Amino acid sequence: MSEANFQPRVFSGIQPSGNLTLGNYLGALRRFVDMQNDENPALYCIVDLHAITVWQEPDALAMATRELTAAYVACGIDPERSILFNQSQVPAHSQLAWIFNCVARIGWINRMTQFKDKAGKNRENASLGLYAYPALMAADILVYHATHVPVGEDQKQHVELTRDIAAKFNHDFGLDFFPMPEPVIEGAATRVMSLRDGTKKMSKSDPSDMSRINMTDDADAIAQKIRKARTDPEALPSELKGLDDRPEARNLVNIYAALAGTQPQDVLTEYGGQQFSTFKPALADLAVEHLSPIAGRMSELMADPAEIDRILAQGADRAAEIAEPIIDRTYEITGMILKRKS
Ligand code: TYM
Repeated sequence: MSEANFQPRVFSGIQPSGNLTLGNYLGALRRFVDMQNDENPALYCIVDLHAITVWQEPDALAMATRELTAAYVACGIDPERSILFNQSQVPAHSQLAWIFNCVARIGWINRMTQFKDKAGKNRENASLGLYAYPALMAADILVYHATHVPVGEDQKQHVELTRDIAAKFNHDFGLDFFPMPEPVIEGAATRVMSLRDGTKKMSKSDPSDMSRINMTDDADAIAQKIRKARTDPEALPSELKGLDDRPEARNLVNIYAALAGTQPQDVLTEYGGQQFSTFKPALADLAVEHLSPIAGRMSELMADPAEIDRILAQGADRAAEIAEPIIDRTYEITGMILKRKS
């Protein structure tokens, strides 16, 4: 039984938890820009409700929310063309998340590797929100009937769970109400690794600042971090196979390819046989060339917080217009009596 005719719609989100990294840029932000769409505006969200699943200082959270908004705009998200907003200001996310808490099974949530990584050994002391996090993420996507979700590799499992939740809801209520969203994981840098350990993801929460490039690092910091990045003593190979068992080398080659908009093999064709003492400065120049103008635009935008707040408010109003009929219909499907028909 089909109820909806799903138009292609893009949704993605980033947590405002400080230190946006090169991983966020290459795995997500930069790709969001290309997925903007005039007919069906893409929705890009600052997921402040997700951020508080671990403790956030209130002032720092507000600051990180504005900084992330500035980063979106500085990277090329046009707040008129796309819908840019903070999650907490569209209550339909939380409303649908509750319904999905009652659809998702505990066994499914127990398989989520991000919860295991984030909760670590101290699982009993993690917040209930951290555990329920994936149901809120499913709500973020499905409350807009979004069909395409650009993310880095680490979010694939959550988007797959979103599909499971959509399928179970549709099955339980005998309707084809929610679409099956696709994760869109593309490019040479879907998993940017730590500069200190090529087997660990580059992350904003790594205690070592040398492990990551932050979007706001200046040219000297970027050059220094790349110069000090862990590598092995061999020259770069000419073929991709030569990167097997060399995670640090592979990571730097992938970063170069993603920044240059080429393929890793093209990078090896150019640098095969060269030492890191040649490759690292070239990579640092490329990274600075990309990130410096973004950091510059971010600080210009941050100088006018009222304008950032205006962008967020306008985005939230536009997002709510799409989400409200969908949450109302979801309530109706589940048997809730609406106080008034929309
Ligand atoms: P978050 O805030 O951890 O990361 C934001 C985006 O950046 C990508 N990313 C990376 N990509 C490549 N290499 C890396 N080292 C790297 N680190 C981060 C992430 O894959 C992500 O695309 N749960 C999400 C936020 C979220 C969301 C959503 C995303 C909430 N609701 C709905 C999509 C749709 C998260 O924590 O991302």
